[in-house]
Amino acid sequence: MQLTSDLTITKSPHTRIHEVDFSHLEFGRHTTDHMFVADYKNGEWQTPTIVPYSNLSLNPVTLALHYGQTVFEGMKAFRMADKNVSLFRPFKHHERFNTSLTRMCMPNVPEDLFIQGIHKLVEIDSAWVPSEEGSSLYIRPFMIASEERFGVKVSDEYKFIIVAGPVGPYYAMPLRLRIEREYVRAARGGTGYAKCGGNYGGAFLPTQLAKQDGYDQVMWTDAVEHKYIEECGTMNLLFRINDVIVTPTLSSSILDGVTRDSILTLAADMDFTVEKRQVSVEEIRDGFKGNTMQEAFGAGTAAVVAPVQTINIDGEDFDLPAWNEKSFMMQVKMKLSNIRRGVDADNYEWNYIV
Ligand SMILES: Cc1ncc(COP(=O)(O)O)c(C=O)c1O
Repeated sequence: MQLTSDLTITKSPHTRIHEVDFSHLEFGRHTTDHMFVADYKNGEWQTPTIVPYSNLSLNPVTLALHYGQTVFEGMKAFRMADKNVSLFRPFKHHERFNTSLTRMCMPNVPEDLFIQGIHKLVEIDSAWVPSEEGSSLYIRPFMIASEERFGVKVSDEYKFIIVAGPVGPYYAMPLRLRIEREYVRAARGGTGYAKCGGNYGGAFLPTQLAKQDGYDQVMWTDAVEHKYIEECGTMNLLFRINDVIVTPTLSSSILDGVTRDSILTLAADMDFTVEKRQVSVEEIRDGFKGNTMQEAFGAGTAAVVAPVQTINIDGEDFDLPAWNEKSFMMQVKMKLSNIRRGVDADNYEWNYIV
């Protein structure tokens, strides 16, 4: 892709990279030396800039702080086996970013602004892309309503910002999940399919309550009957039931996860039958009782694959069978990692080389 010359760059006079222990990276703790900023004013995008990473200065009546017009993305850059840096499916993330922005009544970001912004930032901060196995550079594009006003209104001004930071392998403990039958994350017609800030703020209380009872996260169910499984806090859910890979169908209350989509594509390649359909709580319970529930896992950019150990259904804990390297979720995780690192063929052109 031809990079635009319409980008002003101010390099940081020093780097913070020496403060980072790349062998013990904690998710979300470090940010790179620079950030990308583009302002939207008078109905058009202003000249974007890359500047040294710094705090933002916001007027107290900046609309985003009050009415929640904020949208974000989460994606990763990987150090490949040949030392090149690749972005994983940035065009799909761009598409989802615009879907979220449209739902929140915010202007779409043109593809070249999004892709070139990430490309340039990652290029300038390329020393920050870790080469340790399982590590990557997490990239966070986001947009906020930046008009300064008291009134409840659609903002006329926005800031599109991209920041990034190195993250380590995700050695999470196997998850203990509780099926949520009271609180709701998202309802049909709401904002569940958009990656907007409010969806996460609203999920904190039920998740805290589950944590107090010894669970890591809740498994959200539909808002009307609490009967069908939706997704997890920051992950889509997949099951292996009777050797079929099953996942809830996307709807306006579920985020269209890039990891979910990639895993389903690879599952079909691995000759698994894939079913995208409604998954009821009763089917999960029956799966445990009839010993057909073989695997359950969360899929998302941060963890890639997070194995589920226990699912609590209406107060009763059900345990998944032990898994090993031959389990579907571990095999597909390895396949995905090999594609990203350029070790296996990238048949679907998911890698964008910086
Ligand atoms: C609510 C929610 N569901 C699912 C996902 C997984 O999506 P992805 O695989 O694109 O990271 C995320 C993470 O972005 C999320 O926040």
